Amino acid sequence: MKILITGAGGQVGTDLIPLLLSRGHQVAALDLAPAPAATPAGVQWIQGDVTRQEEVFDAVKASKPDSIFHLAAILSATGERIPFRAYAVNMEGTRYVLEAARVLGTKQVIFTSTIAAFGPGLENPVGNDVSMRPTTMYGVTKVAGELLGEYYATKWGLDFRGVRFPGLISAVEPGGGTSDYVNYMYFDGVRKGAYEAFVRADTTIPLMYMPDALRALVDLAEAPAKKLKHRMFNIAAMSPRADEIAAAVARRIPGVKITFKPDPRRQAIVDSWPQALDDKVAAAEWGWKAEWDLERMTDDLLAKVRAMSGVAAPPAGPAAKPAAGTTAKPAAGATAKPAAKAPAPKPVAAAKGAKK
Ligand SMILES: NC(=O)c1ccc[n+]([C@@H]2O[C@H](COP(=O)([O-])OP(=O)(O)OC[C@H]3O[C@@H](n4cnc5c(N)ncnc54)[C@H](O)[C@@H]3O)[C@@H](O)[C@H]2O)c1
Repeated sequence: MKILITGAGGQVGTDLIPLLLSRGHQVAALDLAPAPAATPAGVQWIQGDVTRQEEVFDAVKASKPDSIFHLAAILSATGERIPFRAYAVNMEGTRYVLEAARVLGTKQVIFTSTIAAFGPGLENPVGNDVSMRPTTMYGVTKVAGELLGEYYATKWGLDFRGVRFPGLISAVEPGGGTSDYVNYMYFDGVRKGAYEAFVRADTTIPLMYMPDALRALVDLAEAPAKKLKHRMFNIAAMSPRADEIAAAVARRIPGVKITFKPDPRRQAIVDSWPQALDDKVAAAEWGWKAEWDLERMTDDLLAKVRAMSGVAAPPAGPAAKPAAGTTAKPAAGATAKPAAKAPAPKPVAAAKGAKK
């Protein structure tokens, strides 16, 4: 299949490109940014802005995709700083992508929604088909994008499908989401031996390791249409507390100091999100199942971050004691939901490296 990825230079796109190539797809990319130096050979990179209709149409004409994976967006924390830019990129950008698909004959659009689309006050785990009343511009634009895509499906027969991603964790620098504190426990834990998280220690949100998130996108795109009764799907993997993640890092980096100093603005954003998602609908309709839990993700991700940073792993020995400022054991009330007993994950191409 020929796939056009919008926002291909971001945290998700950087790892998605090699996965799609390894599955035999042809890949084109549309991003505001120029092609990163590490872009794999054979990728058609188109520099352009999704808020400009003609640039989206030109990219679709130039690449002639069978499917568009629409990733370009302004994420939650950045979206609260520049809400009307977030509105333009996430709303108008999505409309132009859908419209280009309709007018130019692209059959499928894959949409990347988020836990931030739900809003506060819902019972956990939050179901697939609940009323969504987000309180951030990011959430507002993502619910609207979901509904607009469903409108295109109903009115014009577009094969629109999407997932609601949890906070995503990978070795690529994140692009302005509010789940970034998790990524930086790993990055700064390795590089600096210390990290001050901008959330409370008991903060609990749904999280997912990038290989699971990428597999979800590709599996959903490839799922037989006749099996799908829904178009938007919750997907879930784990919901560890912030101090449980810190403890998992501390067990593997002797002496690391991870502390918590909540920033009220960003804490309010994560407090408006669900703590856990119910992904039974995705499991039933296209066989979704997470493969990575906190412990396995931590082993894998620390190895990648160390390799990228040129930092050697500590010598093997008894499990390191957590440093002051971390909690080794989950505190009472923790709601971790490990994806245990999963089959060995397929190898996923290593991250392309930090982009900023
Ligand atoms: N990363 C997460 O934790 C997470 C969680 C939930 C949902 N998502 C969704 O997944 C998708 C990908 O997220 P990501 O983490 O890779 O984001 P990111 O911020 O890392 O990357 C976004 C990319 O979009 C590009 N972009 C921004 N404005 C653009 C424009 N006007 N025209 C063209 N390109 C533009 C940026 O240059 C960047 O390369 C987004 O739709 C996001 O909402 C991500």
